[in-house]
Amino acid sequence: MRNLNEANLTDAALAKLGGASDSRFKEIMTSLIKHLHGFVRETELTEKEWFIGIQFLTATGKKCDDTRQEYILLSDTLGVSMLVDAINHRKPGGATESTVLGPFYVSGAKNVPMWADIGAGVSGEPAYVSGRVLDVDGRPIAGAVLDVWQTDGEGFYDVQRPGGRERYARGKLTTGADGRYGFRTVKPVSYPVPTDGPVGQMLLRMGRHPYRPAHVHAIVSAPGFESVATHIFVEGDKYLDSDAVFGVKNSLVVEFKDHAAGPAPDGKISSKPYCTAQFDFKLVRA
Ligand code: BEZ
Ligand code: FE
Repeated sequence: MRNLNEANLTDAALAKLGGASDSRFKEIMTSLIKHLHGFVRETELTEKEWFIGIQFLTATGKKCDDTRQEYILLSDTLGVSMLVDAINHRKPGGATESTVLGPFYVSGAKNVPMWADIGAGVSGEPAYVSGRVLDVDGRPIAGAVLDVWQTDGEGFYDVQRPGGRERYARGKLTTGADGRYGFRTVKPVSYPVPTDGPVGQMLLRMGRHPYRPAHVHAIVSAPGFESVATHIFVEGDKYLDSDAVFGVKNSLVVEFKDHAAGPAPDGKISSKPYCTAQFDFKLVRA
C-alpha cells in the first residue's frame, strides 16, 4: 500500500477494515469513512479549515464533564439527535410521538401524588397540566409512570442554577385505574440552549438563534408498553417553527388556557390567575 493518492486513498482506508470481526461495527466504519472522505472531496477542504475543525472538536470535548455534554448539544443542533430518534421510534398513527431527551433529565426524581405542586416556590405563572395515559385504542393504562421536568418561569432548569443542587420543577407521577394524571407547576417559557461553548459559537456563525420553544418534558412508561420520551409544547410560542434542536411535532403542541384567580383543577382556590393544559399520552404495546 504505497503511492496512495486522491483516487485510491478511500479504497485503501476501507480495505483496512478487512480484519474487523464485528459486522455491524464494520458496516458503520465503512459508511463513516466513505462519508468523511466524500465530505473532504466535495468541499476540497484546505489544511487550515481541517485544523479549525480539529480545534472545534477538541474544544467541544473540553467543554464536556459530568453535568455538561457539548457533543450531545452538537448532535442536537445539527439535527442528528432527532434523526436518530425518528429512525428508532417509528410509531403507528395515534401513538404519542417522541422527541429529543435533552441534557437536563435527572434520574431519581421524587414520586409525587396526583395534583402535587412541582412548581412550589418556583418563579412563574401557575399552571395545571393534566390528562390520561392510554393505549392506542383509547383504553386507560393504570400504573403508568410519568417522569416530568421543565424550566422555571425564567427559562432555567434547576441544574443550571449556579451551585444549585436543590431540585425543582421535577416529579414522578403514577396513574390510577382511570389512567389519569395531573400536577400543578409553572407555565414553561422558551429558553436558549447553552451558548457559552463551541456549539454556541457555531450557531452564531451559522446566523442561527439558540432558542427552544417552551415545553414540559415527560418520559412516560408502563409495564408491557414501549416508553416514550417526549414534550408538551406551549401553543403560540414564537419559536415553535424554529426550534434550535428540530424537536417540534404538531401532535405535541397544546393550548395553555388562561383563567382568572379562583377555583382551580386541584380542588383548591388559586389566589393568582393560572393556566391549564390537557394532554393524553398514547403508548404502544411492547
Ligand atoms: C432541552 O429541551 O432540555 C434541550 C434539548 C436539547 C438541547 C438542549 C436542551
Ligand atoms: Fe427542555
